[in-house]
Amino acid sequence: MSHNQEIKLDKNTMIVSETDHKGYIIYANSDFCQIAGYSKEELIGKPHNTVRHPDMPKAAFKDLWETVSSGKIWNGMVKNKTKKGGYYWVNATVYSSKSLDGSVRYISVRIKPTDEEVNKAISLYQTLD
Ligand SMILES: Cc1cc2nc3c(=O)[nH]c(=O)nc-3n(C[C@H](O)[C@H](O)[C@H](O)COP(=O)(O)O)c2cc1C
Repeated sequence: MSHNQEIKLDKNTMIVSETDHKGYIIYANSDFCQIAGYSKEELIGKPHNTVRHPDMPKAAFKDLWETVSSGKIWNGMVKNKTKKGGYYWVNATVYSSKSLDGSVRYISVRIKPTDEEVNKAISLYQTLD
């Protein structure tokens, strides 16, 4: 998808990734790779802000990190960029989990948002830094 083009998720799409406690990607599923336009090899080991879109307010990620690091579940709208410069909106649910070795990891599961959810997020995020 070319520059600045919106990619609309299919209703069956489920984008899943897992990070370590610092937000470095340790797992990405096929839907993530396909939508974002990266191979698994390109994503694993990278910080999750690799797909960050500049329109996303810092406050949203501050809230995400505060929520999940205190053991609570974060749900919110995220606009991500693709490798080719397009973008896609997701309804993301992020939570913490423990690895078998006892270390903390975080998991995000993302589905197609409704148009109403996207429009609300666009207006809200314009008011945030
Ligand atoms: C499990 C998990 C998934 C995340 N997914 C995304 C994502 O899809 N897009 C994104 O921009 N940031 C995501 N983040 C937040 C990033 O770690 C980062 O805080 C954010 O991109 C802002 O970048 P910055 O901290 O460099 O300002 C995720 C964090 C966690 C813990």
